[in-house]
Amino acid sequence: MPYNTIIEPFRIHSVEAIDLPDLEQREAALERAGLNLFGIHADEVIIDLLTDSGTGAMSSKQWAGMMRGDESYAGSRSFFKFESVVKGITGLSEVIPTHQGRAAEKILFTVAVKEGDVVPNNTHFDTTRANVEYQGAEALDLVIPEGTDPSAILPFKGNMDIDALRATIEDVGSERIPLVMVTVTNNSGGGQPVSMQNLRDVRAVCDEYGIPFYLDACRFAENAWFIKLREPGYEDSTPRAIAKEMFSLADGATMSAKKDGLANIGGFLATNDPAIAMNARNLLILTEGFTTYGGLAGYDLEAIAEGLEEVLDEHYLRYRIRSTAYLAETVAAAGVPIVQPPGGHAVYLDAAALLPHVPAHQYPAQALAVELYRAGGVRGVEIGTVMFGKPDPEGGPDTPAAMELVRLAIPRRTYTQSHIDYVGEVVIDVASRASDIAGLRITSQPPWLRHFTATFEAV
Ligand code: F0G
Repeated sequence: MPYNTIIEPFRIHSVEAIDLPDLEQREAALERAGLNLFGIHADEVIIDLLTDSGTGAMSSKQWAGMMRGDESYAGSRSFFKFESVVKGITGLSEVIPTHQGRAAEKILFTVAVKEGDVVPNNTHFDTTRANVEYQGAEALDLVIPEGTDPSAILPFKGNMDIDALRATIEDVGSERIPLVMVTVTNNSGGGQPVSMQNLRDVRAVCDEYGIPFYLDACRFAENAWFIKLREPGYEDSTPRAIAKEMFSLADGATMSAKKDGLANIGGFLATNDPAIAMNARNLLILTEGFTTYGGLAGYDLEAIAEGLEEVLDEHYLRYRIRSTAYLAETVAAAGVPIVQPPGGHAVYLDAAALLPHVPAHQYPAQALAVELYRAGGVRGVEIGTVMFGKPDPEGGPDTPAAMELVRLAIPRRTYTQSHIDYVGEVVIDVASRASDIAGLRITSQPPWLRHFTATFEAV
């Protein structure tokens, strides 16, 4: 096409009103929630960028599929459709539906991981880490060193550090490493992609030591698109062919269909290992449901099967990755520090760089997230010392997290360019008065996963 504007490759078929709470209502909501954005009601939010998980809009074909859902307990037609789509994309032989990604993780790690084991990943997502640790095993993050430097610009900043992987295996012994996992894209590291070459290198090391290799495939299609854009030799490949090659390097995968399944719920565990599959299915029946629905309704399986096809559409992926980059470029051009280059599903604001006057133990990223909500009703999420820092048992300052970020995650097919322009305006306005933003102190916190329920006050 001779024109440069990348349009949303869909038109809107059903709309949902956005409430427009005024400043007074937002102040009241913050007060009630103790400055914790998880305590804000969705109808008090103008643009909700808390997560890209389960928040996307489904297509008319997905809704039509839901009407065809077969709710049979055993052997549902919808399951066989879902299974055939997942096999078609991944090439993996055993497909086990689960109610979401963490259920697939829980089942895989319960059957494959035991106390004293070590599981390497580029960067574990928090539920992945928690499920590894719940087994009494160690979750080790081995992303390349640039992967934790917000300003380092690299095409594949989510890559696994192959030397570190090899050194870890030599150090702990392959018998204590039940599997190696790679997260595509690397969510906790800024939504950064992993190259095909890196996946091949991980495969080669795993082969050398006889260790199974699994993908955390939540955003596999976005990763495939980055490979097409950035990795020599893939310019002319389709996202489907790239995805298939990515999965062909792995022995299995866990998936949250709430991301690149374009569905509001669902997930799966897929594997080529019949023994893992058998044990996983037995556990599935115990905790999720029978093997042909795994905690989902038949209509959810239909929505996911259709979503997995639609997510690989080139027009969709071009628009998706471009619209994330558009927000990133808008705010970066105004001098707002962000994780570079922008990832697939989110823009990450660098609160440590923006609020240098607020020390980590006064939660600069939480303070920034609160201000974005107060100023413009935009809800992001803190990924910093509130989420990953360690409280001091003696009541001293917390041990800080590696980075102080606010993630603005973009739901799929949900907001238009003017919504994103609005977000850009709010971010730029708040950043222009960053030196006035005060740090926070915690007034109450639970013993674990404090970011969901802790309360705060301004210092
Ligand atoms: N793995 C990754 C990389 C994820 O980003 C998530 C969820 C999961 C696993 C777990 O999947 O939510 O279906 O159980 N990430 C969401 C987020 C919650 O906001 O980033 P789930």
